[in-house]
Amino acid sequence: MEFEQFYDDQEYILGKGLEKFEQEYAKFNQVDHAIGVGNGHDALFIILKCLGIGKGDEVILPAHTFIATALSIQNAGARPVLVDIDPDNLNIKPSAIEKSITKQTKAIVPVHLYGNPCDMEAILELAKNKNLVIIEDNAQAQGASFQHKKTGSIGLMNFTSFYPTKNIGALGDAGMITTNSKQFAEKAKVLRNYGKSMIGNYNLIGINSRMDELQARLLLVKLKYLDKWNHERMEIASIYESALREVDEIQLQSTLVGSNNVRHIFPVLYNKRDELTKFLHSKGIDTLIHYEKPIHLNEAFSFLNHKKSHFPIAEKVCASELSLPIYPGLRKEEVNFICDQIKWFISKN
Ligand SMILES: Cc1ncc(COP(=O)(O)O)c(C=O)c1O
Repeated sequence: MEFEQFYDDQEYILGKGLEKFEQEYAKFNQVDHAIGVGNGHDALFIILKCLGIGKGDEVILPAHTFIATALSIQNAGARPVLVDIDPDNLNIKPSAIEKSITKQTKAIVPVHLYGNPCDMEAILELAKNKNLVIIEDNAQAQGASFQHKKTGSIGLMNFTSFYPTKNIGALGDAGMITTNSKQFAEKAKVLRNYGKSMIGNYNLIGINSRMDELQARLLLVKLKYLDKWNHERMEIASIYESALREVDEIQLQSTLVGSNNVRHIFPVLYNKRDELTKFLHSKGIDTLIHYEKPIHLNEAFSFLNHKKSHFPIAEKVCASELSLPIYPGLRKEEVNFICDQIKWFISKN
């Protein structure tokens, strides 16, 4: 039905489906403007270009995130400055941010990793005192909130990704910039479309990164279900938490009081992670690792000259993290079975 309409309208790029999705997503995310782009990487790249952050500037981000966060900063010409994470909530640590601020620092990129909101109160305070811009990486936390504010609405310009596995995923690549600034929203629209202004002149060096109309129309339908799906994820997480909380060998991620974690991923930290993985796979339970290496230990970022042990918490998390199955539709009995298997393995090891 939607697909037939898409064909009939014959607007394959920057059509009314995208416009409608941008309006609906802005409403959902409690911001005035949403700008659909090709993917999350480009969203942050465009934001940095919008804000004039590039060569000679430093941007602070956690050492533990998906590599795209660091790549966007590097590709925009700025220097990614990594800092360690909090050992409990596994997000960027405000006191570590403070220590890394220099005269070149222009922005902080808190990543709401695994769906779990960062300590935005402390980060806002820091940014205010040091006159820095906040850009939230909300790729994993669509629908999450911190003290009643949706993540992705708190920074000056923020972004998300609709990579297929996200809490709301496209059938391909797609991303979104969110902001309350009319001026920056307009500039982002120009930059995503080759730098073409509203009246047709090419005034800026832009890129081609427009959200596909087809993806926008699909996401518009899926958006109606996002809160329900997030709720299902939270219910699954609470089963995991009550079953695994008493297992001393396992560490769970903590959530700050007053924040709503939308459980994109359910991570557990366990020092025999690889053995547990093998065991769970033998029982037909699929798991993943997010992520194998912190940013500084990837060869691509060796030029930052960090060594092993520079960010001990991020390194420890990468060496021990295991992502348990979590998705809407996963049944309560299945989650209980997974918990039983984990407990059995740990009792024998
Ligand atoms: C934390 C984080 N930042 C950025 C991105 C980049 O998004 P994309 O894959 O759409 O470029 C992703 C997802 O893939 C992500 O998880």
